[in-house]
Amino acid sequence: MPALRDIINYYITHSVVTFEMVEMSLENRQTWFTQFTNNGRHQLMVAETNGEIVGYAASLRFLLRPAYAPSVMTSIYLRKDQVGKGIGENVYSTLLENLKNVEGVHRAYGLVVLPNSGSEKLHEKLGFQVAGLLHEGGYKFGKYHDVRIYEHRLGK
Ligand SMILES: CC(C)(COP(=O)(O)OP(=O)(O)OC[C@H]1O[C@@H](n2cnc3c(N)ncnc32)[C@H](O)[C@@H]1OP(=O)(O)O)[C@@H](O)C(=O)NCCC(=O)NCCS
Repeated sequence: MPALRDIINYYITHSVVTFEMVEMSLENRQTWFTQFTNNGRHQLMVAETNGEIVGYAASLRFLLRPAYAPSVMTSIYLRKDQVGKGIGENVYSTLLENLKNVEGVHRAYGLVVLPNSGSEKLHEKLGFQVAGLLHEGGYKFGKYHDVRIYEHRLGK
């Protein structure tokens, strides 16, 4: 759990790839972890190299209104020294394959703050399609940022 916390905290404080603004505590990550199950809508896949946690991909609640329940939001973060080695593709594709087998999941949405060439490339490679753009949809570090919505139909 500390490793997962440190991975996201790096991006919270150093970049706009996540719109979280406040660093996560260990308690926060422990609560966050309770949403995941082994075969439900909300799953967490962790990438491990030489016994160290180096990244994760997760499916999370998309929006709170109940009719959105069959849609999940996906999210992926690797430790900063582990990008560009194929780990993202490995962990994200495993998550998507799992989600295809979950009856209660119909769509997966990835929200990518632009530009993010690695994330854009990875979503497109794994079969996501561009569903739309939130023009200046977020404000972080003194600037508005565009957010691209990627949709994966999971073969359904
Ligand atoms: C985005 C991220 C998950 C991608 O994972 P990764 O392990 O770095 O990517 P991979 O090595 O699996 O590469 C997947 C594909 O994207 C390409 N790619 C990776 N990084 C790239 C970059 N910076 N620019 C262009 N293409 C890139 C790879 O070449 C590969 O395509 P190919 O097989 O056709 O060559 C990872 O870089 C990361 O955690 N970045 C920081 C956090 C982040 O931005 N998360 C996403 C928020 S939406």
